[in-house]
Amino acid sequence: YNVPKAINETVKSYAPGTLEREQVLATFKEMYNTTVDVPLYIGSEEIRTGNTRNINPPFDHKKVVGVFHQAEKAHVEKAIAAALEAKPKWAAMAWEQRASIFLKAAELLAGPYRAKINAATMIAQAKTVHQAEIDSACEFIDFLRFNVEFMTQIYAEQPISSEGIWNRMEHRPLEGFVYAITPFNFTAIAGNLPSAPALMGNVVVWKPSAAQVYSANVIMEVFKLAGLPDGVINMVHGNPGMISETLTSSRDLAGVHFTGSTDVFNNLWTMIGQNINIYKSYPRIVGETGGKDFVIAHPSSIPAQVSTALSRGAFEYQGQKCSAASRAYIPQSIWPTVKDLLVKDLASMKMGSPEDPSNFVSAVITEASFDKLARYIDTAKGAKDAEIVAGGNYDKSVGYFIEPTVIVTTNPKYDTMCTELFGPVLTIYVYEDAKWSETLKLVDETSPYALTGAVFSQDRYAIEEATKALENSAGNFYINDKPTGAVVGQQPFGGARASGTNDKAGSILNLVRWVSPRTIKETF
Ligand code: ALA
Repeated sequence: YNVPKAINETVKSYAPGTLEREQVLATFKEMYNTTVDVPLYIGSEEIRTGNTRNINPPFDHKKVVGVFHQAEKAHVEKAIAAALEAKPKWAAMAWEQRASIFLKAAELLAGPYRAKINAATMIAQAKTVHQAEIDSACEFIDFLRFNVEFMTQIYAEQPISSEGIWNRMEHRPLEGFVYAITPFNFTAIAGNLPSAPALMGNVVVWKPSAAQVYSANVIMEVFKLAGLPDGVINMVHGNPGMISETLTSSRDLAGVHFTGSTDVFNNLWTMIGQNINIYKSYPRIVGETGGKDFVIAHPSSIPAQVSTALSRGAFEYQGQKCSAASRAYIPQSIWPTVKDLLVKDLASMKMGSPEDPSNFVSAVITEASFDKLARYIDTAKGAKDAEIVAGGNYDKSVGYFIEPTVIVTTNPKYDTMCTELFGPVLTIYVYEDAKWSETLKLVDETSPYALTGAVFSQDRYAIEEATKALENSAGNFYINDKPTGAVVGQQPFGGARASGTNDKAGSILNLVRWVSPRTIKETF
């Protein structure tokens, strides 16, 4: 198959004086001072229901940058009908034509739309420009480019034939439509979840997170400009329960492509289970869910390396990456040095609006998230078995700002060592050096999740022991690196246990879920 060789998009620096910095800040300003009116995209129509919700930047929550229109049940049903209507022509289209659309979308994002998709992610999801760049530009572009290459690898997979017999396989799309449900924290994931099944010839009804609708609207603009036919990806928003109930009650539900919380995923799976007799085929269920991602340092590890991994791995994007380090196990011998470095590092981190590129962190996504995190911080302030060694202050008067906070506990099962918080709060347990092996066991047993994790050590035997002991504890396991920042095509991403179905985003293993092959045997 002759397709352009996929290469990872180069991350731009946004250093002072660069053109990209000038462009993104100008676009930010322009978008910030206008309002958008985000419709439902159903077939060829943009539907404005009049039942709207405001879009507010988390770092300036009184500001309104737009509204989005919410669907009624009838709109969701209409989206299913539009998808099914688009299906025959789309599924029959030559794969090169489908690939071209998404490769063109990648080029639009790499060039003329880079500033806009990044600015949208900065405004509505409160990412700094550097965090927006690695997500809404690079990771999204990478998904689009690499998926085309993975698609050709799937199509190339053919059975063997023999004399007089020709066996072949048609990698057909699923029969029906795919429901894509996407999170606020990665614009790239929001773009990948509907586009990966669509690339394989499927039609999609997509529900983005309410907190990401603003950049989702830019994604739809890019897909349309790239030539995506009407009805292939339909975008609806509104009451999530109603939308999921309507879509999972359809006989034509063929698959679910999900990233979000474990609870929501479990509910979806239950709804699908209850409806199992109505479907034409068993729906493919692909989900990435929660995490309680860990860092464990061995006494042989380099304290500065551990401290940097913690400050970046736990606090970039306010700790709201699914991969963010949220619990750490540090040996007594190096803890004073790690603590000193970490506290100094965090004290120098600036917090504020993403419009100022020197801010390292910004606000958390919603008031509900802010209130929950503040409650955990307050509990730690009064706890006998925990103390706060960095941060601990919060203020929601302008934006939902929470200082990067480090809790140190003497209790390895302390609440915030076990519970997913999804915010800028890291909890550390300091263990006795001699208890390395027991601590590995603790890491494995403390959380039901298995998304990401990292081990730090200069001792190969210790690394080997950790790699074995934690073989089921993280779908993405890092040695001497922070547990965030998986790159498409390099570190296929996803976790097992309560973290999801581990169908590795950014790899052939994900795309293969969106085909329903037919094997043909012909005898001559
Ligand atoms: N690529 C993202 C990360 O690993 C999901 O942080």
